[in-house]
Amino acid sequence: MKAEILKINPDHIDSEQMNRAGEILKQGGLVAFPTETVYGLGGNALDAQSSEKIYRAKGRPSDNPLIVHIADMEHLFPIVEQVPQKAVRLAEKFWPGPLTMIFKKTDMVPFETTGGLESVAVRMPDHPTALALIRAAGGYVAAPSANRSGRPSPTTAEHVAEDLGENIDLILDGGMVGIGIESTIVDFTEQIPTVLRPGYISLEMLQECIGEVKMDKGLLASDSKVRPKAPGMKYRHYAPKAPLSIVEGPEECVIDKINSLACEVIGSGDRVGIIATDETFERYPQGIVKSIGTRGEEETIAHNLYEVLREFDQLDVAAIYSEAFHTPKMGQAIMNRLLKAAGHTVITVL
Ligand code: TXA
Ligand code: MG
Repeated sequence: MKAEILKINPDHIDSEQMNRAGEILKQGGLVAFPTETVYGLGGNALDAQSSEKIYRAKGRPSDNPLIVHIADMEHLFPIVEQVPQKAVRLAEKFWPGPLTMIFKKTDMVPFETTGGLESVAVRMPDHPTALALIRAAGGYVAAPSANRSGRPSPTTAEHVAEDLGENIDLILDGGMVGIGIESTIVDFTEQIPTVLRPGYISLEMLQECIGEVKMDKGLLASDSKVRPKAPGMKYRHYAPKAPLSIVEGPEECVIDKINSLACEVIGSGDRVGIIATDETFERYPQGIVKSIGTRGEEETIAHNLYEVLREFDQLDVAAIYSEAFHTPKMGQAIMNRLLKAAGHTVITVL
């Protein structure tokens, strides 16, 4: 089966197209669709077999739960035991948007969707196509990022086709996504709301809205003994084919170090990739240099991250070196993804 790719205009929802896509989901099929964060691989969240199909299509371990996407607030209450007041406040402020919240689930949600857990992750995406599709499908769409397990998340329909084109029914092509990295995940099954995955909505933004919020210890620890609570965060992820190393330190030292590392790779007859920014792009005279965006607008770095990682796969490089991006607002989210892509290989220069 080869997925049909249907061009859609997110600013003008075509209800015939949406009904068709919704019908595929209702019948137990899989439809990839754009959201404001990354493309999702949708299936009916209340149908165990659809969720199993998602795991198979992605090659994903079945203990790694899926996020249930809803389009209307009233659809939250039937699938979760209880919604704390603070979660209501976050929903009022950030939904629809790049925020996922975890609650204790009700029997309506099959264990196949939650990877065997008693809790369920829920998100209301801020994208007209996603919202229309969810409504057309009956209200509940399970959707992990639409990449093969372990690969960088897809920010275009072409990325989805590359990874999953043979395994799914339909891809809705709404062009490149806006944010480019996945939603912030907040766990409400703990006493204190806890961030399990950093994203566009930062810890400070959450704290400003509801007071105390903590980061999952497994995210902060660099040793592998403290496990992250979100099962998906423990897997190697987003990895390009060539080994990626992050070079960290004062800017001048980083540039010198990357140049000398690049020189070594080229000296041994291989191609080398360098991830720079608009500000430093011209300081790398050798290798295949890509600018990921500008430090002046950190959103650009998040937006291009996965695309750049995927581009290097086409270029047959033997190694990739990247600057670090500890930017003020999204730095935590960006570095979380980059560190996973690098398998935590960091070279610190002083
Ligand atoms: O932005 C996003 O969230 C995208 C778009 C498509 O909405 N979706 C996404 O889904 O990133 P996925 O499956 O690639 O990542 C979901 C993450 C995984 O790390 C998973 O382990 C975690 O959420 N997760 C889901 N349900 C959970 C639960 N009940 N408890 C703990 N972690 C959970
Ligand atoms: Mg994913």
